[in-house]
Amino acid sequence: MMGEGAIISFWNSTSVAYAQPIMHGLSSILLLGTLAAQKVLGLPGTNAPLQRRAVDSFLSTEEPIALQKLLCNIGSNGCEAQSAAPGAVVASPSTSNPNYWYTWTRDSALVFKCLVDRFTHSYDANLQNLIQEYIAAEARLQGVSNPSGSLSDGSGLAEPKFNVDLSTFTGPWGRPQRDGPALRAIALISYANWLIDNGYTDTAKQIVWPVVKNDLTYVAQYWNQTGFDLWEEVDGSSFFTVASQHRSLVEGSILATQLGQDGSSYSKVAPQILCMVQSFWVSNGGYINSNINVNNGRTGKDANSLLTSIHNFDAALGCDANTFQPCSDKALSNHKAVVDSFRFYSINKGVAEGQAVAVGRYSEDVYYNGNPWYLATLAAAEQLYDALYVWNKQGSITVTSTSQAFFGDLVSGINPGTYASSSSTFQSVVQAATAYADGFVAIVAKYTPSGGALAEQFSKDDGTPFR
Ligand code: NOJ
Repeated sequence: MMGEGAIISFWNSTSVAYAQPIMHGLSSILLLGTLAAQKVLGLPGTNAPLQRRAVDSFLSTEEPIALQKLLCNIGSNGCEAQSAAPGAVVASPSTSNPNYWYTWTRDSALVFKCLVDRFTHSYDANLQNLIQEYIAAEARLQGVSNPSGSLSDGSGLAEPKFNVDLSTFTGPWGRPQRDGPALRAIALISYANWLIDNGYTDTAKQIVWPVVKNDLTYVAQYWNQTGFDLWEEVDGSSFFTVASQHRSLVEGSILATQLGQDGSSYSKVAPQILCMVQSFWVSNGGYINSNINVNNGRTGKDANSLLTSIHNFDAALGCDANTFQPCSDKALSNHKAVVDSFRFYSINKGVAEGQAVAVGRYSEDVYYNGNPWYLATLAAAEQLYDALYVWNKQGSITVTSTSQAFFGDLVSGINPGTYASSSSTFQSVVQAATAYADGFVAIVAKYTPSGGALAEQFSKDDGTPFR
């Protein structure tokens, strides 16, 4: 999404549960003594600790670079974005092939979701200033009439992108894109929560809430209508969009209550959206069809679903399958389906299932001939790290018939059941999943140019970064 240098989300937001936790009915049978027949060839392999060290070292070098590059793309103090309006996030300084010199509502919200997370973890006056400028910029954009519509009936809120001076972009585009308002609400809600927790409830109510309210009202009204997906190509119902809309209304109704506002329409609509979220699941294939209500000849296996799972990660929900939490059986089965769909790239040839490969958007992609993307490859890693976090926290791993194939790549012959942290199977899964996750980061590390600036894609043939 962001062009140069942005790692969208390495920080997991684990704030409040945004949906009612569902009782899992975990089996109480502890399969102690089950021998985990770990694959002898392949994972986790004797080089796992070496890989771990390389990954740790890459992350410690890359994180400050990624952050600095990300900040560079925010107007008007960012080193690459001085001619952009204050608070406007520019997708990339690239003005041709492709021209990313615009501000996208989705990109901006994901960037600020990440920045607000950083800010809430450690106070930083400069970041707070940026967040305030972002809110002011978005408040203004909400009122800019555009080809998708205007604020009067809400329709203009789903305009995907604007010029960097916050004026309307009138050229042809895949519009509307209905994830934007939901993502912006999610980012702003987390800042509003910080304000409330730190004694600034009035600011949350007077400044942030009116902007959030516009977006939530939009979501509650238009969630059931089709629009363009996050890749701006498919006009239908996108898993990423619908799941983001669900999260925004659940969190929005909680915030409304805290601020003494009426959030009843949000809490009424949210369960309906959650119901729709279920309809993306292809039970006989064990994967998420990322685009429904459209017939475009694609399988639907798409990094869209990996991104959805990590962006909606909430450790308080455990391995809840209804919200496709990273460690849920459905999300893990989907992880395998999506990752395996990219094994045909030349740079992935000869790599066994259960070992990391470079991941693209979807296998049928023809944009610049269809290549792996850094953010998609990192999303595959992040889902596994999120899952590991929850498994360790809850002290057990549950394998179901739905997730058996995923786990079987890590520990061959593994059976459905619940494995307590004291079991050797638990340890084997954790070790193999860690090596698997690290493997995706190692691929990104391998194809990151010196200097650390991450382009959008890298070549499926030889890993050369471009765009
Ligand atoms: C293309 C990506 O598919 C889309 O998600 C993003 O919003 C734009 N680039 C701008 O970064």
